[in-house]
Amino acid sequence: MNAAKVQPTSIYLPHLAEIVRTEQLTKMEKLFEIKFQNGQELGHQPGQFVEVSLFGIGEAPISVSSSPTKKGSFDLAVRAVGNVTQALHTLNRGATVGIRGPFGQGFPVEEMKGKDILFVAGGIGLVPLRSLINYVLDNRSHFGRVLVLFGAKTPAEQLFLGELAKWRQSKDMEYLETVDRSDGQWKGNVGVITTLFPKITVNPPKTIAVIVGPPIMYRFAILEAQVKGIPDDQIIVSLERRMKCGVGKCGHCQINHIYVCQEGPVFSYAKIKDVKEAI
Ligand SMILES: Cc1cc2nc3c(=O)[nH]c(=O)nc-3n(C[C@H](O)[C@H](O)[C@H](O)COP(=O)(O)OP(=O)(O)OC[C@H]3O[C@@H](n4cnc5c(N)ncnc54)[C@H](O)[C@@H]3O)c2cc1C
Ligand code: FES
Repeated sequence: MNAAKVQPTSIYLPHLAEIVRTEQLTKMEKLFEIKFQNGQELGHQPGQFVEVSLFGIGEAPISVSSSPTKKGSFDLAVRAVGNVTQALHTLNRGATVGIRGPFGQGFPVEEMKGKDILFVAGGIGLVPLRSLINYVLDNRSHFGRVLVLFGAKTPAEQLFLGELAKWRQSKDMEYLETVDRSDGQWKGNVGVITTLFPKITVNPPKTIAVIVGPPIMYRFAILEAQVKGIPDDQIIVSLERRMKCGVGKCGHCQINHIYVCQEGPVFSYAKIKDVKEAI
């Protein structure tokens, strides 16, 4: 976690970086492996994000998807939804992008050490969680049980298929998955992610639940974690809000008094449960 950080002369100034590998993950999501042109490490914490700029088009906040234990480059996994992300999808190996960051508060990795970790990932929520899951697996002896619950709408929308195949076989973790709708070939669980909770047992005082997914998922997944007895300050979420500057200046990401880009995107549920519109 002590990798040399990029030392930007300005938090507003993008640093030039090269796409060194791409992989089409699903119809909508593409992975970009990126390296700074000056060879420096990004120096991020799992859960932090960067602002990716395409010159002449714009900027978008994107979570870092690789673990800080991976050196030399970092991964972004991007869903094509609009101007910046669709333009990014047209780029391939050798293209140049601008990167600002890393920004925001990541997952409380030090507080998680010695604890059982219950990951709950819905759809593209696996993108930021992959950074933390791989960090935990690369430092396996520092953590207790590792449980991963992953839900996708359909099998075709599952991300990181190579890693999922390893997780299914892994003795280092308990991995359960589900899809909302089967494609006829799918042999696993069918149903929303909350249908996986009755299949697991946890030791509540020792467990930290980390929940990331689409807005609709939070209320139900948090409730399931509470029903298991996990205290609110041991339930961690990552909130996506419209962001522009990423550094607490423009107010785009504000929920009441909270600037999500600076105080988040990672929060304990205890901190935001009384904040209107947070969940
Ligand atoms: C902290 C953070 C981390 C993120 N991490 C990732 C990631 O790892 N991978 C990824 O693919 N995306 C991620 N996003 C979402 C991503 O930033 C937006 O999809 C992107 O900014 C859209 O930019 P655009 O120019 O392509 O789309 P635009 O042209 O701006 O908009 C296209 C459409 O998407 C909607 N939209 C735009 N931004 C958002 C948003 N933030 N939330 C909901 N709807 C939006 C617009 O209303 C419009 O309908 C993250 C967002 C935040 C705040
Ligand atoms: S994105 Fe500008 S203040 Fe948070």
